[in-house]
Amino acid sequence: MKVPFVDLKAQYDSMQNEIVEAILRVVEDTAFVGGKYVQKFEEEFAAYCNRRYAIGVSSGTSALHLALIALGIEKGDEVITAANTFIATTEAITHAGGKVKLVDIDPDSYTIDPSKIEDATSDRTKVIIPVHLYGQAADMDPILEIASKHGLKVLEDAAQAQGAEYKSRKTGSLGDAAAFSFYPAKNLGAYGDAGIVVTDDEEAAQKIRLYSNHGRESANVHLVEGFNERLDGIQASVLSAKLKHLDRWNEMRRQAAKRYDEMLKDLPVKTPKQMPYAKHIYHLYVIRIEQRDRIKEMLGEKGVGCGLHYPTPIHLLDAYKYLGKPEGSYPVTEEVAREILSLPMYPEITEEQQRYVVDCIAEALERI
Ligand SMILES: Cc1ncc(COP(=O)(O)O)c(C=O)c1O
Repeated sequence: MKVPFVDLKAQYDSMQNEIVEAILRVVEDTAFVGGKYVQKFEEEFAAYCNRRYAIGVSSGTSALHLALIALGIEKGDEVITAANTFIATTEAITHAGGKVKLVDIDPDSYTIDPSKIEDATSDRTKVIIPVHLYGQAADMDPILEIASKHGLKVLEDAAQAQGAEYKSRKTGSLGDAAAFSFYPAKNLGAYGDAGIVVTDDEEAAQKIRLYSNHGRESANVHLVEGFNERLDGIQASVLSAKLKHLDRWNEMRRQAAKRYDEMLKDLPVKTPKQMPYAKHIYHLYVIRIEQRDRIKEMLGEKGVGCGLHYPTPIHLLDAYKYLGKPEGSYPVTEEVAREILSLPMYPEITEEQQRYVVDCIAEALERI
């Protein structure tokens, strides 16, 4: 048996007609960049997140970048985020003119540790970016409290959390703005790169739209130097077709996660913990296991695809040597990074496939 890490083809096979029709509509209307399909998806996704505005953009990275600009980042302003995230979060900070300030994570949720945020603030801090990692919301209430006390904005990095909830509220509706990625493997994935920003702030929404489209107000009228970070029609149309299924797919992932929890319970691995405030939508099912690299290799030999999210914390990447944060700076992040292993996870994964994955883990642990 082979169990891939993700299986995008299984999802396509389950809705082939809807996808083909969605793409053909855009081609026939030649609505390739911006246009009515983008507007339709923006309205649908804003409603899904209980937000007033949604602005479709070219990727999750663009969403973070443009949202930071719209929230008023100026050169040298500091932005706080978690040391365990994908590099896109910190790239966006730098490209918007900000300075990256990292904070360690909580060992159970793997999201930013709110009790360590205050120490990282200074009079230059402008924004906090909690990352809803692996499909689970960060602990937002204490973060929002700190932000309000210090006059900071909160930008949710919800790239991995479409449909996840915090205290029964959707991610994306919790901070001043939120950035989503629709990279193909995400819980809601496009057929290429795509992203969106959601917010209730009208001024920020206008700014994001302006900056995403060359600072263009109307034909040949450019108010500022912007970027080309627009959403294209084919992606928007595919996303509209897929949004209808998102809650069901998230439920299938939750069921699969429950099965893994049960199957793994007698093995020496730490399974993911759904925090009491969260509805986890398992974008990734991440376990902790000793001798992770060797186990991953052994699983690969048995046809089981696994991922690592993320084996090198931000401060230890070559790109961030300039931060001057040596090993030991964020101990929880570093310890977790050595042991995390993302198991195959997608809505269509079968119980039989999961049994095989777990049997292979058990066998690898015995042989090691
Ligand atoms: C936490 C996080 N932030 C931001 C991004 C960036 O999204 P994109 O790949 O759509 O630019 C990703 C995507 O992988 C992500 O996982």
